[in-house]
Amino acid sequence: TRLGVLLSGRGSNFSAIAQAIKEGTLRDCEIAVVIANREDAVGLEIAREMGLPARCIVSKGVPRAEHDAAVIAALKSFGVELVVLAGYMRVLTPAFIAAFPQAILNIHPSLLPSFAGLDVQKAALEYGVKFAGCTVHFVDEAVDHGVIVLQRTVEVLDADTPATLAARILVEEHQAYPEAIARVISGQYTVVGRRYIRA
Ligand code: GRF
Repeated sequence: TRLGVLLSGRGSNFSAIAQAIKEGTLRDCEIAVVIANREDAVGLEIAREMGLPARCIVSKGVPRAEHDAAVIAALKSFGVELVVLAGYMRVLTPAFIAAFPQAILNIHPSLLPSFAGLDVQKAALEYGVKFAGCTVHFVDEAVDHGVIVLQRTVEVLDADTPATLAARILVEEHQAYPEAIARVISGQYTVVGRRYIRA
């Protein structure tokens, strides 16, 4: 399966996926291209250093439909079959979602449906939850809403700050994303209602 990774920042989830593929713990897939929407994305630099095809398609000042069309065209030109959002700070247009039906994954640093949106570790702490975690889900037209592939949890500690909680969740993200991709490309799972379960 040819993966297309979209990112906007440091790219630690992308790195974890690339590492899992390199180590052979994530099999039957390859990273066909890494695309960032901003030139200063550290993940883009990492991709280039790894010798992976890496492209920047700048979003700033570009109409949303036009930018998405350019990203879709790039993904298609690299033969991408599964789109992996890894810290891609953009909401996809319906046209983008239609171009890759049931083939776009996202990772979110909360246990959805709690704490969708931004700054979610801070929100979780302020709410007082005792467990937090991350969610890998399919992308649909509502933000942080699609069918859940898998989740991993962490305990919230009394001494946590948003930063320490985010760091502990990130460790789980790096496990969760390769595992979720493996599940999706295995073809052994199916969507029943909103449940992603073994076929
Ligand atoms: C992660 O916390 C991810 O859950 C969220 O954005 C962050 C991206 O981090 N969607 P990185 O760029 O993968 O390091």
